Amino acid sequence: MTILVGDCRALMPAHAPFDMILADPPYGDTSLIWDRRVEGWLALAREALAPTGSLWLFGSLRSFIGVAQEFAAAGLRYVQEIVWEKQNGSAFHADRFKRVHELVVQFMRDDASWGGIYNDVQTTSDATARTVRRKRRPPHTGQIEAGYYVSEDGGPRLMRSVIYARNCHGRAIHPTEKPVGLLENLIRTSCPPGGLVSDWFAGSGAVGEACRATGRRYLGCEIDADMAQRASARIAATLPLGGAPAAPLPLPGDQT
Ligand SMILES: C[S@@+](CC[C@H](N)C(=O)[O-])C[C@H]1O[C@@H](n2cnc3c(N)ncnc32)[C@H](O)[C@@H]1O
Repeated sequence: MTILVGDCRALMPAHAPFDMILADPPYGDTSLIWDRRVEGWLALAREALAPTGSLWLFGSLRSFIGVAQEFAAAGLRYVQEIVWEKQNGSAFHADRFKRVHELVVQFMRDDASWGGIYNDVQTTSDATARTVRRKRRPPHTGQIEAGYYVSEDGGPRLMRSVIYARNCHGRAIHPTEKPVGLLENLIRTSCPPGGLVSDWFAGSGAVGEACRATGRRYLGCEIDADMAQRASARIAATLPLGGAPAAPLPLPGDQT
């Protein structure tokens, strides 16, 4: 559980391979001083992924469209996306829908096959009746994978791709802090227990807290030394999965 202080492009590759990369870079959607796109990190992240690993990347549709070719150029293949729905959002424009969601898109290495990627897709148990059905896939899905799947009411169901989680306004230590519960779902899905998650734009260390709560190892990187210090303190204060409080985290010596 460590946060490196400096530029992720310089610091993170040396610590590869990572079982999962969870990245929340500046989207580059606005002219705000902190919202500058970071160039060149995607290809480095791709090389840093373990063969079974995948990258989950926060962003707006605008931020993905703007660099669509860069993913293929970096050797990354799109897998799926989820929508994080929040209770309120940013109103940058008074003449458009109020934006209350973010995207999180999963990519894998283009030399990997999906069957080899770690994937413990999460489930929910939200139904009441107790019937088991075999459902045919709708015709428009053609011959994709199995011809039917089992749906058990009252039992677990696949987690929906639109996930509601309240954002952290009011108690956040970072202006774009992500909710730990949402991060835990992604981590449980894409990193094996005890595996190593790397968080290239750590901000408040929310990913570190989620790793501690789910029993995964964590390596974060944050360019703002003051924020990194606060993130380290936050992670150290989080109870690990089934364990006692940890000793405070020292900031590593490789500061830039
Ligand atoms: C969108 S915020 C991440 C927020 C974080 N997910 C959280 O929940 O608190 C992006 C962070 O990346 C940091 N950052 C920007 N460029 C960076 C770089 N080249 N290397 C490491 N961190 C960087 C910024 O200082 C900022 O804290």
